[in-house]
Amino acid sequence: MSNEYILVKQSKPLYGTVKASGAKNAALPIMAALILNSGKNVLKNIPNSTDVKQMIKLLEDLGAKIFFDTKNNYLEVDTSEINNFEVKSEIMNKMRASILVMGSLLARFNKAKVAMPGGCLIGARPIDFHLKGFLKMGVNVKEQIPFFDVTFMNKGVVNNKIILEYPSVGATENLAMFACLKKGRTIIINAALEPEVLDFLDVLKKMGAQINIKLPATIEIIGVEKLNSVEHEIIPDRLEVGTLLLACAVCKGEIHVENAQSEQMDVFLEKLKEMGHEVECNDGIKLKATDLPVAVGFKTGPHPGFPTDLQAPMLVAQCVANGRSIIEETVFENRLMHTIELQKMGAQIKIYGNKAQVNGVEYLYGTEVIATDIRASAALVISGLVAKGETKILGIHHWKRGYDKLEEKLKKLGANISF
Ligand code: UD1
Repeated sequence: MSNEYILVKQSKPLYGTVKASGAKNAALPIMAALILNSGKNVLKNIPNSTDVKQMIKLLEDLGAKIFFDTKNNYLEVDTSEINNFEVKSEIMNKMRASILVMGSLLARFNKAKVAMPGGCLIGARPIDFHLKGFLKMGVNVKEQIPFFDVTFMNKGVVNNKIILEYPSVGATENLAMFACLKKGRTIIINAALEPEVLDFLDVLKKMGAQINIKLPATIEIIGVEKLNSVEHEIIPDRLEVGTLLLACAVCKGEIHVENAQSEQMDVFLEKLKEMGHEVECNDGIKLKATDLPVAVGFKTGPHPGFPTDLQAPMLVAQCVANGRSIIEETVFENRLMHTIELQKMGAQIKIYGNKAQVNGVEYLYGTEVIATDIRASAALVISGLVAKGETKILGIHHWKRGYDKLEEKLKKLGANISF
């Protein structure tokens, strides 16, 4: 682990207007999907985070030509010379989203060789739903640790109905990419329909894919011969928006996230209102923090439920609210690790399996803490803003993996943060 850290001091109320960056969780699968075409693609509003840079490395390693203007978040990806279907394990190890090239490589070359992916340590994070889906679609899967060799031999028309036992974001994206270029009709039932997945499906459609979304959670895909290059602007990051709103909720004050898309965040915003905060959604999202926040319980779930990626920072808001709350994590089995660090700062939290019982306290106290995943890093920065004294946060490679200079946006609002 590097010895870089973020230093956060207790901050005054936040005021001002900011814009969120593009969504990393949309950018990564969309970049993986560019393998499906053979041409020059343009993506705008791409966040300059290390996970994105890692995906750039991966695509370059496969033969793509890339230009990334980090100042303008503008990315050009020429996929015409991709000639390799094998992803090195040192690239896979760094980021779970690298598994998403399995579907697009398989669609382009009828074969792919990828290692078991790395990423945040928030649970076992198997890829069995991805593999089961591919098997159902006639793909041959061979495991040669740490690699998975996948091949598809069938040239005929095959119709498939894939039923996901859980609406996995990554499995939905991976299977959809393969289905786009596969002869026949594929139906994915119990598909994930997170806003980022919808942005990704939008890109596939712009490329010429035939996709219908049927309620409540079915995706129908009719395979086409070829997909075209695409130009697309990534949606704003609702998870960054949520983090900014929570920073204001704990510090007090009044902020405006001007490009926030409130319709993607209903349950989360409802919980902020239940805490007593004023939330206005006419033009982006405006939040006016209450001085006397009430603790609220919540339970994470697939969209449109409470997003697991906002559980950690929302839990911090409960640590300094009035009363007791129960927080239940249902998406990942190991996503309460930030609570150990928050306890070091004086938070009153008891863990019962996948539930946290939080008793609100008046103050947290700054100390040295370690971020163990991307969203934990956001939680610890927020707790630092409200803690007395100074909070030194280690493990900030996670922060850089997930966010594009979020510290600058917080500083602009008046937060006391330095690298
Ligand atoms: C994506 C997001 C991540 C978010 C998560 C849930 C990206 C790059 N990452 O991760 O930020 O927290 O969605 O919204 O978009 N599972 C299996 N077998 C599988 C696949 C998943 O058991 O084959 C389980 C996982 O372990 C987890 C749950 O299903 O418990 C949800 O995972 P999934 O939706 O696949 O998350 P990711 O795509 O990895």
